[in-house]
Order: sequence, then structure tokens, then C-alpha cells
Amino acid sequence: MKKSIVLLPGDGIGPEVTRAAAAVLRECAHEFSHQFEMHEFPIGGAAIDATGTPLPAETLDACRKADAVFLGAVGGAKWDSLPVGKRPESGLLELRKGLGLYVNVRPVKVLEPLRGISPLKPERLGDLDIEIVRELAGGMYFGERGSVTEKGEERAWDTESYSTREIERIATFAFSRAEARSRRLCSVDKANVLSSSQLWRRTVTAMSTVYRYVKLEHMYVDNAAMQLTLKPTQFDVILSSNMFGDILSDAAAALVGSIGLVPSASFGSGAPLFEPIHGSAPQLVGKDAANPIGSILSATMMLRDAFGLSLEAEWVEQSLLRVLGGGYRTPDIAEAGQRAVGGSVFTELLREEMLRSLEHAERYGWGV
Ligand code: IPM
Ligand code: MG
Repeated sequence: MKKSIVLLPGDGIGPEVTRAAAAVLRECAHEFSHQFEMHEFPIGGAAIDATGTPLPAETLDACRKADAVFLGAVGGAKWDSLPVGKRPESGLLELRKGLGLYVNVRPVKVLEPLRGISPLKPERLGDLDIEIVRELAGGMYFGERGSVTEKGEERAWDTESYSTREIERIATFAFSRAEARSRRLCSVDKANVLSSSQLWRRTVTAMSTVYRYVKLEHMYVDNAAMQLTLKPTQFDVILSSNMFGDILSDAAAALVGSIGLVPSASFGSGAPLFEPIHGSAPQLVGKDAANPIGSILSATMMLRDAFGLSLEAEWVEQSLLRVLGGGYRTPDIAEAGQRAVGGSVFTELLREEMLRSLEHAERYGWGV
């Protein structure tokens, strides 16, 4: 298989975790005789420094032509004083918009060897395995905004706005995802206060007649945040707006022990985008302390969901579980008595384990 992949390392720990994902993809290409052409382009703060803009035209252009895009992270203190629209984060938002990506899937799943790092009691954590389907191209992120100064006082606003069509297209994805899983869908809104949420709830409810086999439930976002902490296993697929999904996905990530573990995939009309959900974590830069797992799992989502290479994806994921099972941890998830290693060492251990498991392919049931 021949695929062209654009890598957007970005800022902070972005380049470190992107290297990890690229190493894994390279190994898959090598062992399974694929050709993955990978090219790097600037985005975010790195692009502001190099070109004056967070999403240079060449970057967007290359992404549009690619089969898949991988992004590390954007943002950092250096660019914090820039206004909205000029910041590193705008580069990511423009990229999502420019590629027509309106679906963002964030799977939050307990990794068995990491059960112990969850802040939840084991009986609450259970076999947590949920998917947050976040609307990615609308809502407050892209609504009308502005600011004025009236009588010496500043006022600023952002608008939450959704059309029926925008709600339907993301809900269609969430319903189908739920159909393929345990057929439970929880749509999150704030319909007791917001009219955009009332339209959201009406629209999703109307669609449930088409998806008769999916059990649809609605929940206010404040309650959803509480329920995620109290009894997260009640959820399977969670559907939410852009803003609510951003917040709930960080909250959900904490349940499995670290935001560094959670990957994401975005789909729409253009090339799909894969990115870990963590940020640029500037405080970790240069210490080899970044956790590459969210990034590596984003790469396996790319293999499976963009290229249909599920065998390769499983190869990586099972090897990853064995490395964790062997007691290796990056510093953020290391418990007493475990071997804390740097992110790059962890990735190298994973690569070695991937190769070792090929030698024992039959034992692991691989038909390779
Ligand atoms: C995320 C991030 C981004 C978002 C930022 C970096 C713009 O928090 O992907 O969750 O808010 O979407
Ligand atoms: Mg976020």
C-alpha cells in the first residue's frame, strides 16, 4: 500500500511525540511492505516564528493532498499574548476547518496494565471503554465573536450556534458508531438554558427513529461531567458539541490515568487528521518526559481508520500492552517499583517488542 502522510509536529512536546508516531508508522511500512511517504510541515507557534502565520498556505495545501495528516501539538507561553485568530491554536482550528473535518472521535479506554493509575476505585473504573464523538467544525469555536469598549469598559463575546444540518451530520456519525458498538448513545447538551442546545436535542431525537436499534439518551453537560466521574461505565458513545466535547474529553482522559494516553481521529470531507488530545506541555520539553502513547495510538487509528490496516494497528497495540506489561512507564504514569524511562526510550522499547513479536508471530496468532 502506498500512502502519503503529512506530519505536523508543531510546538512543545509535539515534535517528540510526532517522532514516536512516525517511528511506529515507519516500522509498519517496513515490515508489511507498505510505502508511507512522510513529509513534515510547520504549524502553530513554530509556523508563526518561521513564516508569521500559524497555518501557512503550503501546509494546508500539503494536507489537502495527503492521504492522512498527523499532528503533534500546538501552543506555548511564547505566543500567549497574541490575540485569538493569530495564536498557534488558530492554526489547528483553521486546519480542521480547511480540511472540512467536522467529526472528532476520542476513544477513552483503560489500558489493562495501567488500571492502577486511574484515580477511580477499581469497581467504578470497570472496563471503561467509551468514545466521545465531538463536533469539530462549528459551535462557539467558529461562531461570531467580537469585542467593544463601552463607557471605558471592555466587553467580548463568542457565539454558540448550530444549524440542523451541522447537528445531523455529526449525529449521523455518532449513531453509526453506536450501532457498531453497544448501541448506546448519550447526547450531551445544555437544553435547559441554551437555544442552540434545544435545536441539538430536537434534531438528535428526530433522528432516533431512523436508528431504531440505538438506545438514545440525553444528558445535560453538567450532569454528564458528574456522571463521568461517578459511573463512567454507564456510557458507550457520547455525542457532544465542539466546546462540550473539548471539556468532557479532558475529564474522561483523567479517568484512565493521564491525558497523555488518549488519541483522536478527525474525519470530514478532506484528509483525515490524527492527533493526541494532550497539549504542547512546554514544561516537559527537552526532558524526554513526554508520554508518546496518545500519539502512538493516534497512529494506530490512522492505520485502522484511514488505511484499513487493522492487522498492523493490532500489532502495534498488542506490542504496546506487552511493553507496559513488562513494567516500563514514562515518568507521568510510573508507579513505585516500575521502570520509568524517557519517551524516546519507551518508543524504542516498543519498536523492539514489535520486532520480537514478529519472530514469534504464530504464538500471537499473526498470519504473517
Ligand atoms: C483539543 C485542544 C484544542 C481544542 C486546542 C489546542 C485548540 O484543546 O484538541 O482538545 O480546543 O480543540
Ligand atoms: Mg482540548
